[in-house]
Amino acid sequence: MIINVAIDGPAGAGKSTIARAAAKALGFIYVDTGALYRAVGLYALRAGIKPGDAAAVGAALENIKVELSFINGEQSVLLNDEDVSSQIRTPEASMAASDVSAIPAVRAFLFDLQRDIAKKNNCIMDGRDIGTVVLPHAQIKIFLTASPEIRAKRRYDELIAKGETVEFKDVLEDLIKRDYNDSHREVAPLKPAEDGVILDTSGLSLEEAIESAIRIIKERTE
Ligand code: DC
Repeated sequence: MIINVAIDGPAGAGKSTIARAAAKALGFIYVDTGALYRAVGLYALRAGIKPGDAAAVGAALENIKVELSFINGEQSVLLNDEDVSSQIRTPEASMAASDVSAIPAVRAFLFDLQRDIAKKNNCIMDGRDIGTVVLPHAQIKIFLTASPEIRAKRRYDELIAKGETVEFKDVLEDLIKRDYNDSHREVAPLKPAEDGVILDTSGLSLEEAIESAIRIIKERTE
């Protein structure tokens, strides 16, 4: 039987780190669906299209091919055959991703790709609407969250470690704005699945959060 784990939650809750580590421990593939929205956002930025312009982004979709490839369980995202895995990680691409993700045509465009991967692989898929929309039948659904300040601090530390020059208050402001966008859009807003488990990582170390996620998954699959 194929096992699907959905991990949703706001930006900076630790989804990708926790999902990646849990996938490794369990031998599942880890699918980061935010990368898909980021690739579409990056396309819009490069093409000079406003990421919030639904008509223009919708029309551009016919020129966009987004694919995921997995090498040793590590995901790369390809935008029209170019590996853009690192280019999609800038603050501009984050905001563009949030904007394009509110466009129904973009969500529809990326839907089958996500479904197909989950149908064929034991996977942990992270995003905003995985447990509610993309994989409503996932055996395990986890909603990972933490306070905005803690999430912003984690994101800030990550960006600084990468050598970016950012201010904490800007990171916090961006995060609050993205949370608002992501949870107030009309299509597939960020919200916990009714049959999911909420895991608040505010008071947990990374190791404890990873252990908790693995325990939740094992309890429900063994
Ligand atoms: O997880 P992330 O920060 O890489 O996601 C980038 C943006 O994409 C985020 O602002 C919300 C959106 N997103 C989404 O709407 N649905 C998903 N399944 C994943 C991401």
